Amino acid sequence: MIRKFKSSDLATILGIEKEAFPKSPYNRFIFLYYAHIYPDSFLVSLYKDPETGLKKIGGYIIFYPQGHIVSIAVDPAYRRRGIGTELVEEVLKRTKGTARVEVRESNEVAKKFYTQLGFTLQTVIPEYYGDEDALVMVRNRYE
Ligand SMILES: CC(C)(COP(=O)(O)OP(=O)(O)OC[C@H]1O[C@@H](n2cnc3c(N)ncnc32)[C@H](O)[C@@H]1OP(=O)(O)O)[C@@H](O)C(=O)NCCC(=O)NCCS
Repeated sequence: MIRKFKSSDLATILGIEKEAFPKSPYNRFIFLYYAHIYPDSFLVSLYKDPETGLKKIGGYIIFYPQGHIVSIAVDPAYRRRGIGTELVEEVLKRTKGTARVEVRESNEVAKKFYTQLGFTLQTVIPEYYGDEDALVMVRNRYE
């Protein structure tokens, strides 16, 4: 199940973020900023733990309304269960299939993930991350 971010999700999201991006995690102010300016484009996925039956936040996605993905992360404990795919597909549903994302050149998992979702390499932005180039991956006609 996917729903909009609520401020009570913040602690869990910050935990997921630290594990997903240990070198440069977003802080609480960045998350609250996006929740404020794009409340409809900051989504969380609720995952029902098969062992406990409890619903937990499995991951989040932030995107600009036209389909530019700002960030996505899934709790390491719940990866490879389709949560990331579900979140990106929700974006694609809202943008009629069009999206764009920057990916660290070394992030092999993300490159495979987006390729599997139909994204292709559009261009490379040198030193986008300071220490590394970004691959711009797009789906459909994103300019
Ligand atoms: C990238 C990420 C969001 C994927 O989330 P996820 O919920 O595990 O992804 P899914 O289960 O929907 O995987 C879909 C497909 O992506 C590919 N994929 C996902 N994780 C993979 C891995 N560790 N190794 C290889 N392929 C992988 C596979 O093709 C997978 O399909 P399969 O499981 O049927 O083989 C997650 O790994 C993550 O949070 N990574 C850290 C943060 C990050 O790098 N974000 C992207 C920045 S641009």
